Amino acid sequence: GDGTGVSLPAVLDFFTDLLSFYSEDYGKSFHDVSHAINNTFIKKDFGISAGPGNPQQVILTANLPFTESPGGVIFTSMDAGVTFRSVQLPFHPAQAIQFHYQDPKYLVVISIDDGLWLSEDFGNSWSEVHEGVHTFTWGSGLTLFFSSSPKGTARRGELILRRTKDVGKNFTTIAKNIVSFGYIGGFLFTSVMEKLGSPRVIYVSSDQGDHFRKAQLPSATTEQFYSVLDGDEDMIFMHVDNPGDTYFGTIYTSDDRGILYSKSLERHLFGGEGKSDFTNVTSLRGVYLTNILEEDGRIRSVITFDRGGRWRFLKKPENVNCPETSKKCSLHIHGEHSHFSGITPMLPLSEPTAIGLVIAHGSVGDSISAARPDVYVSGDGGYTWWGTLRGPHHYSILDSGGLIVAVEAHRDRQISSIKFSTDEGQCWKVFNFTDHPIFLAGLASEPGTKTMNISIFGYRPDDDDQPMWVAVTIDFEHLLTRECGEEDYVQWLAHSDYDSDPETDGCLLGYKETFRRLKKLSACRNGRGYVVSRQQRPCPCTREDYMCEYGFYRHENTSECLLQPDFLNQTQDICLNGELEDLQNTGYRKIPGDKCEEGVRPPRREDVFKKLCGKDISPTSANSHTKRSKNMAVEHLFIVFLFAAGHAGSYCGVRSYDKT
Ligand SMILES: *[C@@H]1O[C@H](CO)[C@@H](O)[C@H](O)[C@H]1NC(C)=O
Ligand SMILES: *[C@@H]1O[C@H](CO)[C@@H](O)[C@H](O)[C@H]1NC(C)=O
Ligand SMILES: *[C@@H]1O[C@H](CO)[C@@H](O)[C@H](O)[C@H]1NC(C)=O
Ligand SMILES: *[C@@H]1O[C@H](CO)[C@@H](O)[C@H](O)[C@H]1NC(C)=O
Ligand SMILES: *[C@@H]1O[C@H](CO)[C@@H](O)[C@H](O)[C@H]1NC(C)=O
Repeated sequence: GDGTGVSLPAVLDFFTDLLSFYSEDYGKSFHDVSHAINNTFIKKDFGISAGPGNPQQVILTANLPFTESPGGVIFTSMDAGVTFRSVQLPFHPAQAIQFHYQDPKYLVVISIDDGLWLSEDFGNSWSEVHEGVHTFTWGSGLTLFFSSSPKGTARRGELILRRTKDVGKNFTTIAKNIVSFGYIGGFLFTSVMEKLGSPRVIYVSSDQGDHFRKAQLPSATTEQFYSVLDGDEDMIFMHVDNPGDTYFGTIYTSDDRGILYSKSLERHLFGGEGKSDFTNVTSLRGVYLTNILEEDGRIRSVITFDRGGRWRFLKKPENVNCPETSKKCSLHIHGEHSHFSGITPMLPLSEPTAIGLVIAHGSVGDSISAARPDVYVSGDGGYTWWGTLRGPHHYSILDSGGLIVAVEAHRDRQISSIKFSTDEGQCWKVFNFTDHPIFLAGLASEPGTKTMNISIFGYRPDDDDQPMWVAVTIDFEHLLTRECGEEDYVQWLAHSDYDSDPETDGCLLGYKETFRRLKKLSACRNGRGYVVSRQQRPCPCTREDYMCEYGFYRHENTSECLLQPDFLNQTQDICLNGELEDLQNTGYRKIPGDKCEEGVRPPRREDVFKKLCGKDISPTSANSHTKRSKNMAVEHLFIVFLFAAGHAGSYCGVRSYDKT
């Protein structure tokens, strides 16, 4: 449903087909829209698509036997499902119709015979703009990228990548021999087989495909894969699979051009089903969670607070004890893998509007446990945790974090109550919402957490033992009647550890942010008009503001960037590709998006690299250069950071301690 609070289109699954209903009052009542779509059944797998952002636009795809018509039928609505218009298509869609991410009048879909079909008038008229198309994705503006096979062949590594900037009038071929491509955060990625059957390499474009440059990442054989875990306009997280069936790989973080990568996390779990537990904690800048597969075969959770710079185990919640046998006790969080295998009913949950709040299933001990997971919350973006509910639950964040609701998840038991908390999960109250318990299917609320209405969906067997679907909507405005006042809020410095140097406390990616947050004990409502208020201040640069340059790795104990022993071979690659000017030759590169001012600045050391790329470089002499550059880099940094420590003053205590 949309942010203005008018509608919640809902679809109930009856046996094999779908009937459609919509609601204008947050699910309190539903209208049958079957008549508006001529009592047509709609497709179960991709029957409903909603427009981007404010989804007043809805498209239903009819489920008709192929033989009955020359093409499919869609029903389009501009008013969130109140009225529909039926359109006979000149083709059969093979997938859900896709909206342009900003302007919903542009629609694209691939037909069952691989045609690329476009509509510029919200589905009224369609034209086929290209044949033999495999996949497509929107780029910036009206740019559309798609892969196609030249002569109907579809061998891996023989696809071409094409682009149209004028919705299908003109085409440009921008890459050849690609295996796959993707567009994320403004970066266009292609994985390319430079020779048929050779390992794949990644090429990246940050100008919509005009220029591509080879990413400085390990190449991947046909059995290995790359996966972009997440990305925005600043950088991306890339997973590179390890050779062999290991179920793990390495996470790399990119620079601001998507070309240079530095190693962020090793032994990153990535299951056979193409699933990863990588989670962006959207309620606090720079925080990500995921799971690693350790050498002993155990799965452990790790968290980063500086966008992949350093990962650590999660702190054990204060109110939960470790198992007695535990040696390395910490909190472990269930992600996509557990969700996929049915161990947890929900993924970790965080929302940009509910600052610092994270809710997730987890377990405490040496490693993650598949035995009945419990629910944990964090109010500070994952630094500290609190064991809050026993057993698996469905949960949802309402009123911009002022209210959390949860319902017990049982496969074999009917439920009749909902739990809610107004203090970020410290305490819960229970409300019995029905005298006729239901089997829970899930919770639904308007996206964006502004609402206080939550719908509980489920079914109960009726007299004929047929499932009878039920949706119960609870409006918590009746419970939280008081509007929050100024005295209900506090100023909260994100990422603060409270006792370090006030100048640098809370600094992340070169700046610190103070948020106005609801006090935990305030039982009042933020309301629909609530907006997150934040203040930003720049920080002095420290070594945390730099990532390791390509060819360098972060030493696990000192966090200095050291030259990789095998870098020499790769350096020659870089020299050949003329990409030397991209390397900032200190071993450090400022992290993309970092806004730090003054403070530490690693010196440039171009001479070392220039020598490496000299014309008549012989392996032996190059080797000695590498060694020397390594030592020099380390020496230099030592000086730089001692200096920095003296300036910042945060190590003074430690130093005088040493003396005494
Ligand atoms: C509704 O269905 C009937 C019978 O199948 C058909 O004759 C009629 O044209 C349909 N109307 C619309 C608007 O699709
Ligand atoms: C993580 O989520 C935040 C908040 O939604 C977003 O601003 C950021 O770009 C995301 N990070 C990445 C790498 O996608
Ligand atoms: C809710 O129902 C449970 C049993 O189903 C009962 O024990 C409890 O007292 C009820 N709570 C309220 C507040 O009515
Ligand atoms: C809850 O739903 C009612 C309509 O039934 C609506 O008037 C109210 O604004 C909603 N509350 C919020 C906070 O969205
Ligand atoms: C890092 O420190 C730990 C514990 O002090 C030690 O066991 C480990 O060998 C060190 N690693 C390196 C690469 O020096």
